[in-house]
Amino acid sequence: MTDEFFSAALDDLREKGLLREPRVFTACDGRTITLSGKKYLLFCSNDYLGLSQDARIVRAVEEGLAKYGFGSGGSRLISGTRTAHEKLERAIAQYLRAESSVLFGTGYGANSGAIPALAGKGDVIFADKLNHASIIDGCLLSKAEFVRYPHADMGALERLLSKTRCTGRRWIVTDGLFSMDGDLAPLDVVCGLAKKYDAGVYLDDAHAFGVLGEGGRGTASVFGVEGKIDVTVGTLGKAAGGAGAFATGSKKMTDYLVNKARTYIFSTAIPPAVAEGDLKAVEILAESGDRRKSLLSATSDVNAEMRKRGLARVGESYIIPLVVGSADKAVQFAGAFLEAGIFIQAVRPPAVAEGSARLRLTLSSAQLPDDRTALLSAVDKLFDGRSA
Ligand SMILES: Cc1ncc(COP(=O)(O)O)c(C=O)c1O
Repeated sequence: MTDEFFSAALDDLREKGLLREPRVFTACDGRTITLSGKKYLLFCSNDYLGLSQDARIVRAVEEGLAKYGFGSGGSRLISGTRTAHEKLERAIAQYLRAESSVLFGTGYGANSGAIPALAGKGDVIFADKLNHASIIDGCLLSKAEFVRYPHADMGALERLLSKTRCTGRRWIVTDGLFSMDGDLAPLDVVCGLAKKYDAGVYLDDAHAFGVLGEGGRGTASVFGVEGKIDVTVGTLGKAAGGAGAFATGSKKMTDYLVNKARTYIFSTAIPPAVAEGDLKAVEILAESGDRRKSLLSATSDVNAEMRKRGLARVGESYIIPLVVGSADKAVQFAGAFLEAGIFIQAVRPPAVAEGSARLRLTLSSAQLPDDRTALLSAVDKLFDGRSA
């Protein structure tokens, strides 16, 4: 194949305003980034509690490197498992009050491996339309029938559950806190429907893990349905500030994933030093009430300010989408924010639906009150009376 194909495809993306390139930060301290020698306030990170820069975690990783060296040298079932992985799995299960947990390399790998392991031919997966790409890919990789319901529409979910014939098992699969819209799945209703229609519940709590609910235990805790979720997936790459991911549930379920999830079986285990860092992060999450409080208080302040400006959406969380419409417009807004000293990425299709490109603004406990004042004054200047 020649480069002509790639050139044409890239030109096409450029014309549609959809060409992407990673921005390279020469420095990042969780609150600010440096880009081409200039410092900007960071308002689009998933490091919601600022733990990516926590000195206790950095030290744990350094000690892990000294103890284990760098790589794990193999997949978990061949030669990649160290005590660090096992300790981390126990700590996650304990933190989430689950019987057991199993690690994956990434949240993407957890969803794309666990879902096809859990659902197969004859089964039906009922999935929220706005679920994360890794869930969608997991559903597509499974041999199950894949039925999508309109976002958070529990009436539609019930209609689909009642009318879709299923000879095997039913699964309801949903994000907890939706990554691009910042609203919550109504998990109490989801669990009620799951009971009524004898379905399993698979929750991806990537964005709520460590932050929402009692002790940061996530969306199930917010809705009082801990114990009613069959599988909870989370990533250690967001509020935990590290890397890696997990699925929790019963011991039988995690043993099953160890034997059936291809992204667990056929992929190199995360470096043990990273597992040590993640372990420290989970310990810190368990006692991070103050950080959570400060983030949630900033969340309610900023959302109130957005509401005053007619910019708030239905949900209210530390993920605040400013929907502007076309991809080009979102890129222009991101450029204007940058000129105002604020780094927010434009989120464009296919990450969000056509016509709903947005600035995905996120808050972190690492930000200072002055940072949020600077953000709001930039919003005033850029949106100038226009609703998003
Ligand atoms: C809901 C959701 N699930 C899974 C993932 C993937 O997690 P990871 O970044 O660990 O691959 C993300 C990441 O953006 C996400 O938003």
